[in-house]
Amino acid sequence: MSLDALITEARRALEGSYAPYSRFRVGAALLAEDGRVFRGANVENASYGLTMCAERAAVFRAVNEGARHFVRIAIVSDPPAWPYPCGACRQVLAEFSPEMEVVVVRGREMRRFRLDELLPHTFHLEESP
Ligand code: THU
Repeated sequence: MSLDALITEARRALEGSYAPYSRFRVGAALLAEDGRVFRGANVENASYGLTMCAERAAVFRAVNEGARHFVRIAIVSDPPAWPYPCGACRQVLAEFSPEMEVVVVRGREMRRFRLDELLPHTFHLEESP
């Protein structure tokens, strides 16, 4: 799937957001190596700390469906903020594909990164080189 199409999927995901407290909607679309796309949106709670971010919602859905390797994630939000993934989401994404691409979209602008650029020296239990 093209990057443009993945961003369209992330915008579609945004419609599933439940964000009555922050009013900051986030949508994510995660492209797996096998070509499947998994969408997620943030889900807030009256007990604020229980909120789930869009990115982790997408990863958990993907992993539950058997996907383990990812090419790219597109993340969109309501302006004016850039929807950079939080530290927890970076760690969860890196569990599966530390070299995946992270694309953040704000309105018509986008910024592209490798995940290991956003989260260097990632914690893994296995021995690293
Ligand atoms: N949020 C995400 O869904 N992803 C991010 O990368 C950053 C923050 C959500 C959590 C919360 O519902 C709202 O944005 C404000 O923090």
